[in-house]
Formats: sequence, C-alpha cells, structure tokens
Amino acid sequence: MTKPLISIEALARRYPARGGGETTIFENVWLPIQKGEFVCLIGHSGCGKTTILNVLAGLDQPSGGAVIVDGREISGPSLDRAVIFQGHSLLPWMTVIGNIAFAVTSRHPEWGREKVRAHCQKYIDVVHLTGSEHKKPAELSGGMKQRVGIARALAIEPKMLLMDEPFSALDALTRGSLQDEVRRICTETEQTVFMITHDIDEAMLLADKIVLMTNGPGAKIAEIVENTLPKDRRPATMHKHANYYALRNHLLDFLVTRSKNFAAEIEGKPYDPRKPPVVRPGAKPVGVETLADDGSPRSAAIA
Ligand SMILES: Nc1ncnc2c1ncn2[C@@H]1O[C@H](COP(=O)(O)OP(=O)(O)OP(=O)(O)O)[C@@H](O)[C@H]1O
Ligand SMILES: [Mg+2]
Repeated sequence: MTKPLISIEALARRYPARGGGETTIFENVWLPIQKGEFVCLIGHSGCGKTTILNVLAGLDQPSGGAVIVDGREISGPSLDRAVIFQGHSLLPWMTVIGNIAFAVTSRHPEWGREKVRAHCQKYIDVVHLTGSEHKKPAELSGGMKQRVGIARALAIEPKMLLMDEPFSALDALTRGSLQDEVRRICTETEQTVFMITHDIDEAMLLADKIVLMTNGPGAKIAEIVENTLPKDRRPATMHKHANYYALRNHLLDFLVTRSKNFAAEIEGKPYDPRKPPVVRPGAKPVGVETLADDGSPRSAAIA
C-alpha cells in the first residue's frame, strides 16, 4: 500500500488540571489515512474527538506528537483541509452562492467571475439547492444551511474533508438523504474524509474504516474496524447484508462496554498504540491484524 496522505503520529492533548498537574485527554494516538479513504471516528463524549479534528484542521495545537500531511507537519489552517462544523458557520449577510463563492475565490483568486459562478452552481446543484442561490442563511431551514456548508466545503475541492457530526442537528429524513448524497459525492470524487459521529448506522453507511476511541481521560485508539459491507451499500438495504449485525453488534458492544474497560482488556496483551488492531466483523476468515508502517493490514493475532 502507498504512503498515507495523512499520518497522525503519537498525538496527545493535555490541559492543566484543577488544583495543579495536568489532565491527559488522549495520548499516543497513531492513525494513517490513505488517499480516498472515508474514516469515521467514534467514541464517547469528551474523549477528544473534536480536539483531534481541530488539530487535523490546524485550528488547535497538540501537546505532543504531530500530524503529517504529504510529508509535512501541519502548522495551521489550510484550504487543503475543509471543515464542516456541526453549526454551519455561514456568513449571514451573504447569499447561498455568495457564501460558496467567498470560499472558492479564496482558493482560486485568479478565477474570473463567470468561472467562479459556474463552479459554485455545480455544487449547489449537487446538494439540491438549485433555486435557492440568492437566499440568505436566515431564509433557509437547518437542513438547507447544512447543505450550503457541505457545498462550500466540497467546492474548494480540498485534499481532505473534515466533518464534526455534520448531520446530528438534522431531522431524520434530511439526515438520511444528505448522508446518501455525501457518500455518493465522496465516492465519485475519491474524496479523503475524516468524520466524527455518534451514530453507528451513519458510520456503517459512510465509512471505509471506523476508528474506535476509548473513554478519556487518557483516551486511545482501541481498534480500527474495517467496514465489511459492500461498497455499493444503501441506507434502505444495508441491514439485509449478512455482515450487518456482526458489524453493528461489534460497534455497539465497544461503545456500551469495551470503551470503558479497554485498559483491563489489553492488560498483558501485545497492544501497540502505533498499530492498533484491525478487525473485520463478519468477514471470513475472522482475523485480527495490525497495521504495518505504511498503513496496510499485517497479520498478528492478539487473543
Ligand atoms: N480549554 C480547555 N480546558 C480544559 N479542558 C478542555 C478544554 N477544551 C476541551 N477540554 C476537555 O477536553 C476533552 C475533549 O474535548 P472534545 O471537545 O475534543 O471532546 P469530544 O470527544 O469531541 O466530545 P463530544 O462527543 O461531546 O463532542 C473534554 O473532556 C473537555 O472537557
Ligand atoms: Mg466533539
């Protein structure tokens, strides 16, 4: 396998604790992300998911370790990495197309007016906002605002798309159709994505790899779960696949029990935070592997 596009290496975040000393939110977090991969991060509230995303975005500094992109350490925000926040963060005085054009012009200052307009329109159409180009955010529903945020992020064609629970504030119907849309766009454009979610079904639908984070303080990556559902999965039918329940139960079991007992689980076992075990629930043969330095799976049984 090729060198990862992004390499999270020995990442740690600590804050001063009340009454002196430090609290370690997470430490020794290692994760390679390959180009075109859709990675979801799952873990309980407070384990440090948003902090990791902010470090990837260049909006926060780690207390230890680094994130390497294309062989260089991240030192600040870049248009190479677009973020979709939970709150859509649109400029309220600008129209839909104005918000998107603002980002596109920052990315491509040399583009003429018509080229920018056509480019924005393409992404407005993709997220099904055709006809709402000239509305201001106040005139849009929550789901529509979130679509503008997604269109804006996609329109700058970033090397990496970072999403922090992008669908969590939406009603179920809007969420379902947007998830499906984002999956289609990301697959078609081979977009590299790092997304945080609390929703197991969302992770199963969207992600190629689901990264499981233990509870904090001192959170770690426990496992990397490879999605064993077919690539062409759809929300309405994926539950019919033979691997669906094995995968779902594995994720649920982690969140309910293993995320808090992980330290006891690995005691005396050869757990290496640099190469968290890779599991494929439901896949035959059922194997447990670790990642080699280049991010490819490597057989090494842990009982
Ligand atoms: N400025 C700060 N000072 C001290 N602790 C902080 C500070 N900012 C964040 N934290 C702590 O860091 C931890 C991780 O926060 P983070 O927002 O990354 O969690 P999260 O996994 O994204 O949670 P959620 O699922 O609720 O969004 C939390 O326990 C939080 O209390
Ligand atoms: Mg968060």
